[in-house]
Amino acid sequence: MHFEVHVAPRLPAILVDATQFETALLNLVVNARDSTPDGGRITISAQARDLGVGEVGALPAGRYIEVSVADSGAGMSPEVLARAVEPFFTTKPRGKGTGLGLSQVYGLTQQSGGDLRIASKLGEGTTVSMFFPALAAEQQPVHVQSDISEKVLVVDDQPEVLEMVAEIFRNLGFDVLTAGDGRSALNVLLREANVDLLFSDIVMPGMNGIELANQVKDRFPAMKILLASGYPPPEAGDVKDFDFLSKPFSMADVAKKLRALAR
Ligand SMILES: Nc1ncnc2c1ncn2[C@@H]1O[C@H](COP(=O)(O)OP(=O)(O)OP(=O)(O)O)[C@@H](O)[C@H]1O
Ligand SMILES: [Mg+2]
Repeated sequence: MHFEVHVAPRLPAILVDATQFETALLNLVVNARDSTPDGGRITISAQARDLGVGEVGALPAGRYIEVSVADSGAGMSPEVLARAVEPFFTTKPRGKGTGLGLSQVYGLTQQSGGDLRIASKLGEGTTVSMFFPALAAEQQPVHVQSDISEKVLVVDDQPEVLEMVAEIFRNLGFDVLTAGDGRSALNVLLREANVDLLFSDIVMPGMNGIELANQVKDRFPAMKILLASGYPPPEAGDVKDFDFLSKPFSMADVAKKLRALAR
């Protein structure tokens, strides 16, 4: 199965319940997977769209974000397509599907001032698109990223966590460097110019995040420092000199913290 994600850069923000959005996307991807045999293709994409009146349902003209999940799977007959978003409508065997997936997706688009569009043909795959109104320019959150992208050094001793956090910063528009422990972090900083931000886990074998942060503060006084831990202070250590983010955190949490730091 080929799986692709295409997200257009610098999309305008939308106002949507994040948890429900995640559920909706998951419902769509599960539907796509269930209908797509091995060797098929599933593509998630997000792009900005300027819609005219009548282009998508009864949506007023304006700027929208279209988030779609396309599959090359079995597709739907016109009869199934007509009923697909109905609550409890399912073609899956008893006990397999609740038939609530698409109705949740539909509900979310409606409560968000958007709409849902399904294009499907038997044997030719399915594309389900969620449309959400883009926030007006003056309602857009102040973006942490400037035109000159900032450089962050992310430090964590757990490789999976390190990669996940690195990805969050990449998505926020940062140039990302990584290190698996305090020593190598210091080496990276001595080698690399223009690192703007140190983002470090606290509990690590060898030099811990607070020791690292203190050394960095002495050697690179201009650097912004943000520490993170699954343990709250004071168990995590004495973090009073530094900004702190508790784990687990989402991209939104990091963005919010960075905005606060920028003030
Ligand atoms: N990507 C798709 N390809 C083909 N048919 C689909 C697709 N998505 C939905 N359908 C059809 O629409 C029906 C309803 O989908 P919906 O997500 O609401 O419920 P479900 O998938 O059957 O159950 P659940 O979501 O609870 O697992 C499905 O049973 C299926 O017949
Ligand atoms: Mg489903």
